[in-house]
Amino acid sequence: MLPEQQDILWTFLSIAFAVFALYAFVNVVQHCREREDVSTKFWGGIFGAFLIVMFLETVHMFDLNQSQQLSFFFGKMCLTMFLLLLIWGIFFKSTQIENQSPPIIRAFFWWTTISVLLAGYTNWLPQQRSDPPPKAAVFIGEITMEEYAEMGRVIIFGTKQVAGQKAIGKGQCPLCHTFDAGDNIGRCPNLFGVGERGATRIKEDRYLNEPVKVGENEPKSNIIKGAPDQIPEEYRRPGAGGHDTMTAEDYIRESVMCPSCYVVKGFGKAGDKVSPMPVIVKPPISLSPVEVNAVIAYLQSYTTPGDYSAVSVPLPSADGGAAEEELASDEEAPVFVTGSEPIDVMINTLGCPLCHTIPGIEGAVGELGPKLHEKINAPKRIKDSRYKGKATNTKEYVRESILNPNAYIVMNEEENELFPEGLMPQDFKHQLSVDAIEKLVDFISQTEG
Ligand code: HEC
Ligand code: HEC
Repeated sequence: MLPEQQDILWTFLSIAFAVFALYAFVNVVQHCREREDVSTKFWGGIFGAFLIVMFLETVHMFDLNQSQQLSFFFGKMCLTMFLLLLIWGIFFKSTQIENQSPPIIRAFFWWTTISVLLAGYTNWLPQQRSDPPPKAAVFIGEITMEEYAEMGRVIIFGTKQVAGQKAIGKGQCPLCHTFDAGDNIGRCPNLFGVGERGATRIKEDRYLNEPVKVGENEPKSNIIKGAPDQIPEEYRRPGAGGHDTMTAEDYIRESVMCPSCYVVKGFGKAGDKVSPMPVIVKPPISLSPVEVNAVIAYLQSYTTPGDYSAVSVPLPSADGGAAEEELASDEEAPVFVTGSEPIDVMINTLGCPLCHTIPGIEGAVGELGPKLHEKINAPKRIKDSRYKGKATNTKEYVRESILNPNAYIVMNEEENELFPEGLMPQDFKHQLSVDAIEKLVDFISQTEG
């Protein structure tokens, strides 16, 4: 609650006080009427004054903020109430209304009754769930293309950015890709302009024949190349046809659902036959159809801020059901591991398997970085004449490689060139607790082929 907000409790209590003052006033006037020897004017005047003061104080409550309300309530209002009860007691005594219970008890009963009635009333009201409705329900049909592209941005870069840390969302794309014109870190294509260049790629000879031919099935993703109409239905573009009617949007969708259908020159393995990019609709990234389209909407529009005319994906519709709920729950905190997670969960959360093959971790068959066989590799690295780091044993080397990857750049023996410097994220130190780094280093230090 914001500090300048009013507190509903104090406002409610002061209203109850004011109503009580009215009750006391009516009660006193009634007693005076019944007995001739008591002055209605005198007592009515006193209790009427109380009623007015109480009423003004309640009105004043509405002008105050929360902390002021608190002190005003306990300072002024409670004092007024105390005086009222005192004088009410004197009234009963002086007019010898002996059969009455003392005012404090009557007040107590009065407030208890009010509370019970209120509690009963609120319970009787139709019960409404107080948790917010799923966002999906809110955005269907109301979302604009700008918001949809923004969702794509969040999937790629995450919501929360931490200073000094690479922004990364569920899609993990920035682990490998760059997005700004001219920003090339090496191993993966810059996605600037991918919205348009797909349209020409699909006409290239290379596209038609390598590594699989158009119309053939790519085994790793089980997608038929160049056939947007064969894409699994939930991901398919409405109205998609065959290769001759393929659009730039179809190319992006195929690139992310079947990276090895076409491998951008110079960015693949085995002579550009195999893509090191993960299939993003499968674990660990597992984007839903609505999410894939959001990512495409972002890629098609981020180079022209404010202009969404190049976006060709449709806005999500009501029948996307489950997928949209998934998207709604996507508000991500920055990645952080505490060390209490099992080791494979930890490693998958950090994204190491996207780039490394790690023995003992299921599905960790990434190929952008060296195979992590550190039990054997680390001692070799330390002895290398190029090594300028500070490590003297395997654990220290592994720790250094994770916290300061550029201390030593590993040689890629297959390709006979250095692995790209700066590709391994430089900010794991912000994502790991002390325990987590210990656990990770222990595990990685034991890995061997
Ligand atoms: C582990 C690293 C990695 C991750 C994570 C990754 N990619 Fe890629 N991506 C690559 C590599 C390498 C290529 C080039 C080889 C190829 O064509 O498949 C590529 C190619 C592409 C292409 C084709 C580019 C072109 O110029 O034709 C697109 C589009 C693409 N990625 C989008 C994405 C999106 C969107 C994400 C996140 C949801 C993502 N990638 C995540 C490594 C990655
Ligand atoms: C975006 C790709 C990428 C990700 C994600 C990544 N790495 Fe790396 N890693 C590399 C590359 C490329 C190298 C080789 C270049 C270098 O030495 O910096 C490397 C090198 C290493 C080395 C040194 C290997 C050797 O044999 O000397 C270790 C250890 C390592 N990474 C561990 C990890 C761990 C643990 C994680 C997850 C917390 C991780 N990496 C995440 C790309 C990545």
